[in-house]
Amino acid sequence: MKGIVFTEFLEMVESTFGLETVDYIVENSDLKSEGVYTSVGTYDFIEMVNLITKLSEKVNIPVNNLIYEYGKYFFNVLTNSYPEIFKLYNSPLNLLSSIESHIHVHVRKIYPEAELPTFEVLEETDSNMKMIYKSERAMYMFALALIEKTFEHYHDKATVSYEKLNEEGTKVKFEIEKVV
Ligand code: HEM
Repeated sequence: MKGIVFTEFLEMVESTFGLETVDYIVENSDLKSEGVYTSVGTYDFIEMVNLITKLSEKVNIPVNNLIYEYGKYFFNVLTNSYPEIFKLYNSPLNLLSSIESHIHVHVRKIYPEAELPTFEVLEETDSNMKMIYKSERAMYMFALALIEKTFEHYHDKATVSYEKLNEEGTKVKFEIEKVV
């Protein structure tokens, strides 16, 4: 997993729960990197799992809620870091249907070692979209947050629902219905 995902996560933890909480989770998470991350580095995904699990225990918030909140936060990182990508698309559904064919393809070119999910679009109209998220990392709550924020970004509204297609959440179906 890319270092930026770690550095921004720790930023969010600091601004939400304070520096003491950052120190606590870093010291108690058994991290190969010892909690030293640079945004351009690459680190084991298990470190993120350990950090989020420790944070969840410490602040008594379920892991899935933390991942969801982090997705919302990370969207702002994406719009600040890659404003030109968001200018390329004129609607949220347009952008979402291009993650697989364009956006993440571009990310993989810049960071060959990035660990990205795949999205398979099953159905797409002007007002709705069905797609399957697949990733060994089961970060579907992160995807949910990014999808919702994409609509906000374009000042549009949608209801987004999801169905886990397996217990682990490595395969999840999303249904996005634009509110008109
Ligand atoms: C400008 C737009 C975007 C950029 C530049 C971008 C880039 C990235 C990067 C750098 C990562 C981390 C990869 C790693 O840690 O190795 C990532 C992960 C991820 N991205 Fe994107 N992304 C964008 C838009 C989106 C959108 C709109 C979605 C909405 C569904 C999405 C879904 C995800 C998910 C779910 C992950 C977590 C990894 C996983 O589930 O396996 N991305 N993306």
